[in-house]
Amino acid sequence: MQQTTTDVLVIGSGIAGCAAALAAARDGADVTLATKATEPEDASSWWAQGGIAVTREDADAFREDIVTASDGEADPDAVDVLVENATAAVEDVLLDTLDIEFDTVAGSAKVDAIGTGAHEDEEFAYAREAAHSESRILHVNASTGRHILPPLLDHLQGLANVTIEQGTAALELVTHEGLVHGAILERDGEFAPCFAGATVLATGGIGALYPRTTNPPGSTGDGIAMAALAGADVADVEYVQFHPTAYAGDESGDTFLLSEAVRGEGGLLRNAEGERFMPGYHEDAELAPRDVVARAVRTEIDATGGVTLDVSPLDFAEEFPDLAHKCEEYGVDWSDGIPVAPAEHFLCGGVAVDDRGRASLDRLFAVGECSRTGVHGANRLASTSLLEGLVWGLRAGETAADAGEPEVVEAPDLLTRDPALPGNFARDKFVRLRRVMGEYVGLSRNHEDLDRAQAVLRRLKGEVDAYIRTRTARGLYELRSATVVALLVTRAASENPESKGCHYLESPSAAETGAGTGTGADGD
Ligand code: SIN
Repeated sequence: MQQTTTDVLVIGSGIAGCAAALAAARDGADVTLATKATEPEDASSWWAQGGIAVTREDADAFREDIVTASDGEADPDAVDVLVENATAAVEDVLLDTLDIEFDTVAGSAKVDAIGTGAHEDEEFAYAREAAHSESRILHVNASTGRHILPPLLDHLQGLANVTIEQGTAALELVTHEGLVHGAILERDGEFAPCFAGATVLATGGIGALYPRTTNPPGSTGDGIAMAALAGADVADVEYVQFHPTAYAGDESGDTFLLSEAVRGEGGLLRNAEGERFMPGYHEDAELAPRDVVARAVRTEIDATGGVTLDVSPLDFAEEFPDLAHKCEEYGVDWSDGIPVAPAEHFLCGGVAVDDRGRASLDRLFAVGECSRTGVHGANRLASTSLLEGLVWGLRAGETAADAGEPEVVEAPDLLTRDPALPGNFARDKFVRLRRVMGEYVGLSRNHEDLDRAQAVLRRLKGEVDAYIRTRTARGLYELRSATVVALLVTRAASENPESKGCHYLESPSAAETGAGTGTGADGD
């Protein structure tokens, strides 16, 4: 691989990375978009089901819903940025540039603007999901992401100043005298620096750290780990969101998401005794905030042996054809209710950024799930992730375009003395890491478990670091990313004594008295 230079290096190809690339390219910058993905579906955005929330007439209600879902922890300034820019961003990119045909009410013509249609017979079929006080979600069937991401990538491919490097991983940031100057990129086992005037991390979430996830397998937290190792601030990573309704499946962890939109349209949750239990947990029942529903589902599974999503109140096949198809693929007869259980879904924190996506290191930006904008606080409101990626992606891309000229500096010297990894090294370590995260750093936590997890993860990191001293292999760097981020999540959880949103402590009193600060015992 050859050393390259570019004005803006974007790492990751979900909606946030693509929006950043688009905005930077529109401002005249030469953009390199490097992505591990070889297909659009390798990015989480492709898997987004519910849709993209937009600001309708009542902006205050949208603000309030975000803050309430966040358990009061969202940053009000960041929420304002999201709510105030939502409509313009969606109209600009998704409607005007890409011409996405969001679902409309039956018989309605295509709609080109948010709000009421230009004519009486034009109206989007806005959906409602958990913790939203009104219907404000634009969607295409219940598989919105796959209708947005491919056209967005195609549009970028057509721009003369954007180069898309697929199958290309970023291994390490290039830093010099406190500035970030790009990253070491790897493709087909070869690697070289890409020097950039600005570097935008858009690497998505951390699903690969957990045994059950709705994320694609490449979600190893690479951007967060690279930023943290370079010294950038990371915040709120204890807030790992679990989606309440992923197909329960078997021990293998293979699962698929059953969108919250199904509950928004009347789907009910029942325990193994057939009882509808959510009204006993929260006044909004099935439409309570996601963290509340996820914990209730787990409690009922433990108490009664299982939970199903009862879709009999709706015409499931008609309203959710893609999900009905998925059920068929997995051999699930939805007329009996669909067995569900929580699965890791979204990281609310990440690389700490400001309202333009700027990280704490100069010339470094982060957007989308790998970033912490402050919008989500302790728990994310449904269908705000595509929106956050789009809004912050555009803002970061614009700002990155003016960050400065690329400079060729001394790049880290990665070692290739012994490049092959022994046998199943990475796979076996991932199995161990996922087991620890699933058992000890999951839906509900206590300080003894968090101590155990930290002890195991520290040892694991030591083993991985020993290999990295002599080898440069993508699998090893992904394992390092996962281990670094797992430690960051576990440490943040251990240091936060307050049960809030997704960070639910079984015994906050123990935490408040100081338990959980030691290193713990073996725990492996
Ligand atoms: C869903 O469709 O339930 C997921 C939407 C989201 O995570 O925002």
